[in-house]
Amino acid sequence: MKKVITYGTFDLLHYGHVRLLKRARELGDYLIVGLSTDEFNEFQKHKESYNNYAERKFILEAIRYVDEVIPEEDWDQKVTDITKYHIDTFVMGSDWQGKFDFLKSVCDVVYLPRTPGISTTKIKKDLK
Ligand code: CTP
Repeated sequence: MKKVITYGTFDLLHYGHVRLLKRARELGDYLIVGLSTDEFNEFQKHKESYNNYAERKFILEAIRYVDEVIPEEDWDQKVTDITKYHIDTFVMGSDWQGKFDFLKSVCDVVYLPRTPGISTTKIKKDLK
């Protein structure tokens, strides 16, 4: 079985997120999402989410392309996760292009094109 992993906050789940998850899942047979915890968002990524971790996890688990959700608590956990979960392919959107090339020594690294015109930041701004 080919296993894929991706990471993110996935707040106010939108069309761009689902397209990313669908394409990531199609690269293998099992997709794990490393979901940024509220603490990781606040103290490391310096962004505040609308939905808390439990809510974001609940929503992601309802998506047919997502097989498992694990917490992302640290920038440096990726190699450990890839080994622990026997990951074949690491996937991120193209806004992260090149940033995770150091993982190529442990698995395949794929950057998928972002869906243009939508982001959580834009949704929040447009609804203000
Ligand atoms: N993503 C995407 N297309 C979009 C928005 C996000 O493919 N239009 C991807 C990102 O590249 C990332 C994953 O979805 O791999 C999770 O991104 P996240 O940062 O949670 O979503 P954004 O909408 O970009 O959130 P924000 O505006 O807070 O940065």
